[in-house]
Amino acid sequence: MVEFVVEFGKKGTAPNGGLDAPAFHRNHEAIWSAIGSSLSTQTGDVLELGSGTGQHITTFAARTPRLIWWPSDIYPSHLSSIEAWRQHTGLANVRAPQRIDLTDLAWIWTADEQTGPLLTAMLCINVLHISPWTVAQNLIAGAGRYLRDGGRLFVYGPFKRDGEHIAPSNAAFDQSLRAENPDWGVRDVADLNTLARDAGLTPAEIAPMPANNLVLAFTRAVRQN
Ligand SMILES: C[S@@+](CC[C@H](N)C(=O)[O-])C[C@H]1O[C@@H](n2cnc3c(N)ncnc32)[C@H](O)[C@@H]1O
Repeated sequence: MVEFVVEFGKKGTAPNGGLDAPAFHRNHEAIWSAIGSSLSTQTGDVLELGSGTGQHITTFAARTPRLIWWPSDIYPSHLSSIEAWRQHTGLANVRAPQRIDLTDLAWIWTADEQTGPLLTAMLCINVLHISPWTVAQNLIAGAGRYLRDGGRLFVYGPFKRDGEHIAPSNAAFDQSLRAENPDWGVRDVADLNTLARDAGLTPAEIAPMPANNLVLAFTRAVRQN
């Protein structure tokens, strides 16, 4: 089992046995302000990786009835929580959570019969700094595989830019992450852009967020063949 930061200990406070993440309440409106205008006009399928409690995906799905949302995670209690939020909200456009482990290079999104083979968008919130670098590699390689031409990959979290932390608090956070697990740490946008280029994505458009976080938006370039 891959280790991860648990901020999901608030059992019993959410309906249906779902979990409640304090960070969700702090960050979801800011994240929506960066991704909502792009997603609201779209149709198709959106895959979230590392959905955690399921609060982001159900909140965003309620605002975009023309999109189908696909939650995923690795951890059983998170998969149960996502399902609890899905049942509670009763949203017709959220599919059952599936187990996707981004440490697996060949990770697979399991679509259904109505679904096209490619995605309109992918979303990954607060995962890349609490997982090994291979998770970033496999997320972006997967975006190259699964996004349709012009599809977007949105990634939220704390990031460095050109080797520098964007705030002293991020530097301290990075140190504490690495002390807890040497494989974790605040990633650099420049390194992610290198992965993106190799996967057929554009460099990230960057939206500053509260508390020194960023939303990175990568776009799948048009396939040439
Ligand atoms: C800090 S939580 C963020 C959860 C949610 N995105 C949010 O912002 O509320 C990190 C999430 O990444 C998931 N995760 C960790 N390693 C993963 C991996 N290798 N593949 C997929 N998900 C992973 C954890 O189970 C957890 O749900």
